[in-house]
Amino acid sequence: MIYAKVIGTGSYLPGAPITNDDLVARGIDTSDAWIVERTGIRARHFAAESELTSDLALQASRRAIEAAGVDVASIDLIIVATSTPDYVFPSTASLLQDKLGIRNGGAAFDVQAVCSGFVFALATAEKFIGSGACKRALVVGAEVFSRILDWNDRGTCVLFGDGAGAVVLDASETPGILSSVLHTDGQYSKILSVPGQVSCGKVVGSPFLQMDGQAVFKFAVKVLGDVAVEAAGIAGISTGEIDWVIPHQANIRILQATARRLDLPIEKMVVTVGQHGNTSAASVPMAFDVAMRDGRIRAGQNVLLEGVGGGFTWGAVLLKA
Ligand code: UT7
Repeated sequence: MIYAKVIGTGSYLPGAPITNDDLVARGIDTSDAWIVERTGIRARHFAAESELTSDLALQASRRAIEAAGVDVASIDLIIVATSTPDYVFPSTASLLQDKLGIRNGGAAFDVQAVCSGFVFALATAEKFIGSGACKRALVVGAEVFSRILDWNDRGTCVLFGDGAGAVVLDASETPGILSSVLHTDGQYSKILSVPGQVSCGKVVGSPFLQMDGQAVFKFAVKVLGDVAVEAAGIAGISTGEIDWVIPHQANIRILQATARRLDLPIEKMVVTVGQHGNTSAASVPMAFDVAMRDGRIRAGQNVLLEGVGGGFTWGAVLLKA
C-alpha cells in the first residue's frame, strides 16, 4: 500500500497585523469587544495591493519545501485551493509552478471548495499519490479574501483576512493519510456566496462576499462534528484516539461548540483564528504549520484536519504525523 505522508509544512501571513481597533479607526461601525466576544478574532492580515494569491502561496510553499528538505524539481503535482485566484485563468497553481521554477511537466491545478478547499485539495492529492500517478505533491491553501469584502457590511468584513499555508506530501510505505471524506450539498449555496461573474467586460451580480451568519454557524457545528466521526470510523479509530483536531479557523465559538459535540477537550484543538481571522482555504494548513513548528504535533500522532465552507462543502482528512 502506498501512503501519502506530510513531510513538511509552511505558512505565510502578509504584512503587519490589523487589529480590531485598527478597523474601528478605519471607520467601520464595530468594536474590539463585539468582535472578540462573537468570534475570538483579535487581528487579521491584508496583502499589499501588488501581492497576489500566488505570491502568498509562493512564500508558504518555499517554507514547506524547506521544512521537507526536498528538491523543488521533484514535485510532480501542485494543487492550490483558493476562491480568490489571481486570474480567471490560468490557474493559480500554474502561476505558482512557474514562480517555483518547476519545469518537469507535472500537473498543476486549482481546487475551489471555499473554506473546505484545502481539505478537498489534500484528499485529491492523496488519491494521486495512492494510485501511483505521482510521487510528491505540493498542496496549498491561499487566499486574499480582503479583496472580496464589502466594507459597508460589518457583519462580514471584520471576520476575514489573507494568508497561505502549504504542505509537501510524499509517497511513503509508512502510514500517512489514513482516511479522507468529502461532502457537498449545493442546495445551501446561497447562505455563503460571492454571487458575481465577469461577463462581457463587466462584473455581473455582486463581487462581494454575502453570508447568513447564523445559518452558516449552525451548519458548520453540525457537519464538523459529523465528519470527524465519519473520518475516524473509516480509519478504524475512535474520536478519543485523535490527538489533534485542526478545524477550519472561522470563529472560536464554532470551534468550542464542535469540541463539545465531539466530547473533546478544547486543548486538543489547534486554534489560531485569533491571530488571523478567517482565511478560508488557507486556515487549516496555516494552523497545521503553527502546531508542527511549535512542537505540539509529534511524529506518529493522529491528526484530523477538517473544513466547512461555501457550496456548502465539508470534509476531513485523518493522518498520522
Ligand atoms: O467559513 C465560514 C465563515 N462563516 C462564519 O464563520 C460565520 C458564522 N457565523 C458567525 O460567526 C456569527 O453569526 C457572526 C459572528 C457572523 C454574527 O454573530 P451573531 O451572534 O449571529 O450576530 P447577529 O448577526 O445576530 O447580529 C447581532 C447584532 C446585530 O445588532 P442588533 O440587530 O441586535 O441591534 C448586528 O447588527 O450584532 C450586530 N453586529 C455587529 N455589531 C458590532 C453585526 N456585526 C457587527 C459588528 N460589530 N462587526
